[in-house]
Formats: sequence, C-alpha cells, structure tokens
Amino acid sequence: QDRYVVIGNPIAHSMSPAIHTDFAAQLGLPLQYQRVLAPLNGFTQTVAALKAAGVKGANVTVPFKLEAFALATECSPAAQFAQAANTLKFNADGTVLADNTDGGGLCRDLARQLKTLGLRMDQCQVLMIGAGGAASGCVAAFQDSSIQHLTVLNRTVGKARELAERAEAIDLPAAGGALDTPPSHFEIPGAPVVIVNASSSSLKGDVPALHPDWYERAVLVYDMMYAAEPTPFMQSIHNPELPCSDGLGMLVFQAQLAFEVWTGQSPNALVTLSKVRQMLL
Ligand code: ATR
Repeated sequence: QDRYVVIGNPIAHSMSPAIHTDFAAQLGLPLQYQRVLAPLNGFTQTVAALKAAGVKGANVTVPFKLEAFALATECSPAAQFAQAANTLKFNADGTVLADNTDGGGLCRDLARQLKTLGLRMDQCQVLMIGAGGAASGCVAAFQDSSIQHLTVLNRTVGKARELAERAEAIDLPAAGGALDTPPSHFEIPGAPVVIVNASSSSLKGDVPALHPDWYERAVLVYDMMYAAEPTPFMQSIHNPELPCSDGLGMLVFQAQLAFEVWTGQSPNALVTLSKVRQMLL
C-alpha cells in the first residue's frame, strides 16, 4: 500500500484525507493517506522521517509551503514562480519533486464554471484581489490558461504592482493597483471579467473594498475560501444574476492534480466534490 500524507500546523481540519481516499477508491488503488501535524520549527525533520518510513508523497499546507519548496531538488514552473509548494513527490532515488497545484486547481474549477456560461479561460481577464502567498500561487496557472489579462488589486499597492511585474516577466499581460481602482483603468475591452478573491480578508469576516464597477463587468465571482455557508465576500454581492462560487472546487481540483503527479492517474473530481460538499454541511 503506497502511503501519502498532508503536513500542516494545524492539520486536524484538513479534508485532504477524505478527498484522496475517495480518489483511490474510485480507481481501485491501494493507497493510505494520513494527516501529519509537524511542529512549527520541525518541518524538515518531519519530512525526513516520513521519507525514511517510505512515504511516497506529501501535500503541504499552512504554514510550510515555502519550506516545502526550499527542500525540493526539482520543481515545476508553478512552484518556481510562487517559491512555494503544496505537493511533494519523494522519488526512489532520494530526489524530491515540488509542485504547486493550487493555481492549476483554481483554473480547472474556473474553466468548469465558465463552460456552463459558454466561456473559456482564454477569452477572459481576471481581477485578482490580494497579492500574498495564495495569489502568487495562481499566477503561473493563469499564464498556462492563456487568460487575456491579469489585474492584481491589493490593500498594499506596492505588493500588487510587484506581483503584476513578476507576472509580466513570465509573459502574462498584467497590471497592479489599489483596491479602489476602477476597471476602466485596466480592463481589456470586451474580455469578460472573472473576479477571484485571493485575499485572506474572509478569515476575519472582512470584505475587500473593491471599486463597485468591477461587479458590473463580472461574469463570475470566485472566493478561494470555503465554508458551510457562503463566505462574507460572496454574501457581499447582492446581484442574484452574478454567479458566485466558494473555493471548495479549487481544493478538490488541486488534490486531483497532486494525485496525478503521484500516481499518473486522474480520478473524477466532480464526484468527490459533491461528497466533500456534503461533509462540509
Ligand atoms: P495568504 O497565504 O493567505 O495569501 P498572505 O500572504 O498573508 O496570506 O496574504 C494575505 C493577503 O490578503 C494580502 O494580499 C493581504 O493584503 P496586504 O498585502 O495589504 O496585507 C490581504 N488581506 C488580508 N486581510 C485583508 C483585508 N481585511 N482587506 C483586504 N485585503 C486583506
């Protein structure tokens, strides 16, 4: 039985074991997946012990994604861009591959939801709120999805501009600014706007003070956070015609990508997503 883990601190709340166990069951693979609580100053030692015990791979969550990237011997372009990893693969020869599947998971979920609106990612522009770790984890995937343009708006303007410059450096047309900047400043005329909240404001029950015109231009609003109820950000949108999504799909699709990295096989993420949604309620 191949063993995989999710490492974090805290970790008790993680739904990754349920997700990966369901993936393995779908494909009839004998796979064991467990939560591992690493001490805040003991990530490297925890990984070494897991590798020695024959564990084949790990998902990594808060606060260890930067350390996970640092201990890898090879990495994907997404991990390279973010300087952070959520997926490690421990190879038999001792090498460690780092990937960051968060952005790819987000883009799979966005593409799925856009399809129901008759749209593709490469037709759209993205307005991303936030410029921290969650935001930078998604930029390489937006580039992969060939979106028309990325606007990064952040409470701290300098961080938005810096992330946009780094996006441009990988050939993704991008611009950064303050939260109250109107779309007329940045938008690509004609390209539908997808709003993605990558800020951690929902954790504090806050809603980012975005210029209201963005909502007029949007075809889809996506919050990376998820909860049993709509997030504060979703609740702040009072237009019943505007599709709004939480980030539970992103969680399941990033897991699907990690599962593909480890096993080379792809489970049906939507089947698992509906089960995970039930678990959340
Ligand atoms: P994460 O890994 O979740 O991205 P982070 O790297 O600390 O965490 O980044 C948090 C992001 O949420 C930042 O963009 C932060 O804005 P600042 O750069 O100005 O700090 C944003 N954020 C957090 N709380 C917010 C709030 N109440 N309103 C708007 N933005 C907020």
